[in-house]
Amino acid sequence: MSSTEETSVGEFELLERDGLARLGRLETPHGPLATPALLPVVHPDPERQSCCPEEMARRWGVRAVITSAYITWRTPPLRTVAERDGIHRLLAFDGVVMTDSGAFQQHAYGSVEVGPEEILDFQDRIGSDIATVLDLFTEPDATEAEAAHALALTVERAERARASRRGLLAVPVQGGAHPELRARAAAEASRLGDILAVGGVVPLLERYRFRDLAQALAAARPNLAPEAPVHLFGTGHPMTFAFAALFGVDLFDSSAYHKFARRGKLLQPTGTVDLEGLREASCFCSLCSEHPLTEVARWPTAPREEQLARHNLLVSLEEVGRVRQAIRDGTLWELAERRAAGHPALQAGLLAAMARPEVFWPTEPEARRAFRETGPGSRERPAVRRFRSRLDLYRVGLGSPRTVPRMPLTPEYLARLPAQDRDGALIEWDTPSPIGPVPLELTELYPVGPYLGVDEFASPPPRLGPQELRRNLRPDPTLDVDRDWEPTWTSRQIERLLRWTYDRAVAVALAPELRGERSRRTGRLRRLTDGSGPAFVVGNDGLPRPTFLGGEHLHRLLPTGRGRVVVHADAVPFVREGRSLFSRFVVSADPALAPESSALLVDEDDHLLAVGRLQLAPLEMGRLRRGVAVRTTSHRASPGTAPESAGSEELDEDDEDEQGPPVVPE
Ligand code: GUN
Ligand code: ZN
Repeated sequence: MSSTEETSVGEFELLERDGLARLGRLETPHGPLATPALLPVVHPDPERQSCCPEEMARRWGVRAVITSAYITWRTPPLRTVAERDGIHRLLAFDGVVMTDSGAFQQHAYGSVEVGPEEILDFQDRIGSDIATVLDLFTEPDATEAEAAHALALTVERAERARASRRGLLAVPVQGGAHPELRARAAAEASRLGDILAVGGVVPLLERYRFRDLAQALAAARPNLAPEAPVHLFGTGHPMTFAFAALFGVDLFDSSAYHKFARRGKLLQPTGTVDLEGLREASCFCSLCSEHPLTEVARWPTAPREEQLARHNLLVSLEEVGRVRQAIRDGTLWELAERRAAGHPALQAGLLAAMARPEVFWPTEPEARRAFRETGPGSRERPAVRRFRSRLDLYRVGLGSPRTVPRMPLTPEYLARLPAQDRDGALIEWDTPSPIGPVPLELTELYPVGPYLGVDEFASPPPRLGPQELRRNLRPDPTLDVDRDWEPTWTSRQIERLLRWTYDRAVAVALAPELRGERSRRTGRLRRLTDGSGPAFVVGNDGLPRPTFLGGEHLHRLLPTGRGRVVVHADAVPFVREGRSLFSRFVVSADPALAPESSALLVDEDDHLLAVGRLQLAPLEMGRLRRGVAVRTTSHRASPGTAPESAGSEELDEDDEDEQGPPVVPE
């Protein structure tokens, strides 16, 4: 089993992810394309390009562009060259060329005079890497009947296009402002298309109707095939890239760089600036170091527009880079929020996205390294809402909570806590998180553990001296403050962490068999061992991660199916030896798991092979043809190997923490 077998055109590999957003790799006839990518819209007539594709490629590494097959077709001199030499030669570009079909001209001019077969056939003939079906552009205010009719016709055309096209096919997702139609359009495109191109949204983008855009994307998303790249027609303003990527948009296209330049506007990821009013040098990019924008503002129209278009494109490409980096870092929500601060309309769009957490939950990772508020709005991120709803369930049956002020998690503090809690009630830590008081045993879990919020700085937790500690922690004067309560607390914490991660039955059965070990330096719970060795390692994210031994316990205690990913027979020998599980060898997976969850890897007869950590969401497994679904973290140690080899990776994680997290967040 290897990941190095032949790649085929159209295959999309997910390399890194942050929720729905992904860093991917799409195989095209002109080589692989790293996504998210911005496809600059270029005019097929070289005379009418403000920046030619060759320059884009040479200066900024642009690997893909989009152009209009329709304009090429209806302009005889362009058509002749394209038919004779191909679209790549016409554009003098040897990267990926996606072509559009003319539906946009239908929106702009009311009609197009080409038939769906003819324009598809033309795209084939001129060697387009990604051809687009001639869809019916559905305006946002189209009635349901109009939108349904247009959708039916678009699907019919897509069916015929699929039957005739051998190369990559982009199938537009229309449906207007009608959620059921968007959902159906997404499902149909997923059945027929290689690239799923959400369309009909240019009027929303132009009029800053980001709330409606969020609703259209939220309606489409659950029905878009997870294994196919998603294109969003008209995402040209760099302010919108992070927002679109949140919904798993992989391809943006931009004519904005050029259109805004014509109107003397400078694109920024934080908004739009009038070149006219620019008096101060505020950009020192490679373009500005040669010709400052303040000077460009006084140039004659043609060269000014060209230079401004270049600048807009450069700024847009930089923003794509930031989006990509944020996906790697797991900070895309943060970036999207900062961008939304650039315009209230975009802020409204983000609020509309947050109002649909169920769209994000299936791919929302179990943990991220950081959670940083950009403002009160951050408190409604899907991760926070999921934690809150899980917490409501968790609290049931645990008695009325006692809230204690937030204090450093020192061993002394921990040692004394159960003094006021001998009856087993919840001790809730009054954390400065939006979640409100959080049970103490859950305070290391994402998003609470890494939560960095405004309150933490606006009203820092009180520094309690020994007197206050006594008063707060020992309301009952008969208790002995100096008594070592730590073991009591530790077993409580173990029981509760297992309850949170699995269920009450697992917790009740397993906790008495486990002993907790704490980090000497930080006092944090680090390892849960049974009589024969470490069964769980508590990661920096606070979750108990099973070793193979812990996996055996869970396998015995969890009902069949729960917590499991079922491995195809062909991959069983490899997984058993500790190799990772590739997506195409997944038979099924517990839908309650999420990326970064720990899971039991079992064969089809439910024999335990290994334990691992999810890289994909269950709904993506088996559907993505390439890439790792579950990274194996622990397998049965072969005879003669040291016990550490059964979970070495997780033990490393522990060591990492011994160096300690940074005290002051940067
Ligand atoms: N360009 C901008 N919007 C659209 C759309 O909805 N469909 C197509 N084919 N092209 C577009
Ligand atoms: Zn500049």
